[in-house]
Amino acid sequence: MPISARALRAVNTPNLLVAAFERVSRNPFHVEHNRGGIINLGTAENEVMHPTLVSELNSPQIQAGGINASHLTYGSSFNGSRALRSEISHLLNRKLNLHHKLNDSNMKIVNGATTAISVFSMILCDAGEGVMIPSPYYGGFHPDCSVGTDSVPIRVPAYASNGFQITTADLERSYAESKGRGIVPKVLLICNPNNPLGQTYSRTQLMEMLLFAQSHDMEVISDEVYALTIREGDDNLPPFTSVYAMSDLPDPQRTHLIWSMSKDFGVSGMRLATVISLNPDVIAAAGCFGTFASTPNYIQHLWTNFLRDRPRVDQFLDESNLRIKDSYDKVAGFLQSHHIPFLPANAGFFVWVNLSKWLGPESSEAGAGSRVAWTPSSPFARYEPSPRETQLWMELLDEGVYIAYGAAFFADEEGWFRILFAKDWSIMQLALERIGRVLSRREAQHQ
Ligand SMILES: Cc1ncc(COP(=O)(O)O)c(C=O)c1O
Repeated sequence: MPISARALRAVNTPNLLVAAFERVSRNPFHVEHNRGGIINLGTAENEVMHPTLVSELNSPQIQAGGINASHLTYGSSFNGSRALRSEISHLLNRKLNLHHKLNDSNMKIVNGATTAISVFSMILCDAGEGVMIPSPYYGGFHPDCSVGTDSVPIRVPAYASNGFQITTADLERSYAESKGRGIVPKVLLICNPNNPLGQTYSRTQLMEMLLFAQSHDMEVISDEVYALTIREGDDNLPPFTSVYAMSDLPDPQRTHLIWSMSKDFGVSGMRLATVISLNPDVIAAAGCFGTFASTPNYIQHLWTNFLRDRPRVDQFLDESNLRIKDSYDKVAGFLQSHHIPFLPANAGFFVWVNLSKWLGPESSEAGAGSRVAWTPSSPFARYEPSPRETQLWMELLDEGVYIAYGAAFFADEEGWFRILFAKDWSIMQLALERIGRVLSRREAQHQ
């Protein structure tokens, strides 16, 4: 066997989101060249500010002389440019109203939150130890905290019936089941604002999870990559609270943070994120993962220049959030007018919708056997879409629109899909028309 057992495990840990992305990439929609192509409302990319970004990143102020000799070197620190770390610290302190103030020594720049998750699991877990994650959860968590690091993701299932809230009892149940299988949970991974739910956690809910982790001597990773994409005042949902904004944070030295430029600034291709901790040992350990995690110096240079103009950054984020809110309001209107149930969203740029009414009847081969995979079961269950979900998903693809199914987020209930809306409205409109056509056709067929 030419590849290691670890590599084999990686191959056998499918990332359904990546697989779908590859498929969509073979026939992507283009407003001029391929209007019949597939519109991607499945990959969490924020495009609302792209025209502005392209022009600003090419401007003389941001380019500041273009590439110079220092960009051709490893740079001044494997933890990333000090100037950039200072700017990001300032940004997060300022925008998130942090009580535990950050500075450049609390962070390492890495090439994406994907890498940050992997680096944290290497630092915090030994092989075979568990990472508990409330589900449904961002599908990338699964490979990111297990492939290469050999930690074990443990789902803590949440359900629509109580608004996907996680209770201490849920956490204790998954913890006990995991220990029963010989896997010691070492980390609680919280995604706030939550992907795919598009919601912020209340302070009370956050505290409940943090106290649970403290009571079991666990580390906490808070993935806050959507922290600056919040629509305040929407639907009575709680305002965003960063873990580091909590003056009563139970265990600051054991609570670590991830933030990325990918989502809030809409630059997922630039590969720039941060591993953040108040614990110097954790940052020192992160430093040992040196160059494989680096963001190119030139990209760091561009973003240092961009973030330095703080009034402009604030204006940029306000504009981005306004556009996203506008899009959300219109998508919510579409969902309401088509009687599609959805979870009200106040953060990020996607909405969690329930299409179970349109799944159609269970066929015999889509019957009992497949349902087993969809009943709440072990935190270790392997997830695949049910045959009915696959059929609906394929029909949507054939109509020219891709939305991500719940199995890619380890959802426990059948029929949930995530719809992204951070796109130009004319394209969104076309995509929603395509979704509407498929659902109307199915309604007519199953009446
Ligand atoms: C919650 C969450 N964490 C991490 C990532 C990965 O982001 P990055 O592009 O910074 O690797 C994503 C991407 O969708 C995400 O939604």
